Amino acid sequence: MTILHVDSSIQGDTSVSRALSRAAVSHLAGLHPALAIVRRDLVAAPLAHFTAAEGADAAVLDEFLAARIVVVGAPMYNFGIPSQLKSWLDRLAVPGRSFRYGPQGPEGLCGGRTVLLVSTRGGVFSDGSPRAEMDHQEGHLRAFFGFLGVADVRIIRAEGLALGEAAQQAALQAAHDTIRQLAA
Ligand SMILES: Cc1cc2nc3c(=O)[nH]c(=O)nc-3n(C[C@H](O)[C@H](O)[C@H](O)COP(=O)(O)O)c2cc1C
Repeated sequence: MTILHVDSSIQGDTSVSRALSRAAVSHLAGLHPALAIVRRDLVAAPLAHFTAAEGADAAVLDEFLAARIVVVGAPMYNFGIPSQLKSWLDRLAVPGRSFRYGPQGPEGLCGGRTVLLVSTRGGVFSDGSPRAEMDHQEGHLRAFFGFLGVADVRIIRAEGLALGEAAQQAALQAAHDTIRQLAA
């Protein structure tokens, strides 16, 4: 099995989510030396908008299903996720492979893996904050991977990145603390 390292920030070398996802993968590689690291950079090699004509892209789903741990760099852009990341999600939800509907309703088929969401945002949207209801990024991703049956979804968050130097440093410190504490 693998560690799948996904990035979707358009901000290149200045991207915060790319720096944090790299740090998380490096930490996890030390904990799991037997897992191979597989890279998917959704900006360097974008997936097209999903179309009905294309149908399921087995290669993208197979890559996800081969992963024991998936680290997803997921910035907030315009209150949601980058469109590059949405195109990837669109290829993971495949009826009969990653989920199915039965008499009890939907059943996710992707349990047994961990998804680590590296959430970066300029403002503050975490639970209890005045703008929490404007978060269509973490909530979307949690709902999506939960629907696929991934019970172990964790967040590495750096928020308030646009609120000045002190807020940015505190956010980065908090995210790196979360990474250091990843035990499995
Ligand atoms: C196109 C774009 C849209 C953004 N939209 C939001 C937003 O809706 N809310 C917010 O708090 N920050 C927003 N930001 C700020 C980013 O969340 C912030 O720059 C963060 O560092 C992005 O992660 P990255 O550095 O990995 O790209 C936006 C940034 C960009 C480039």
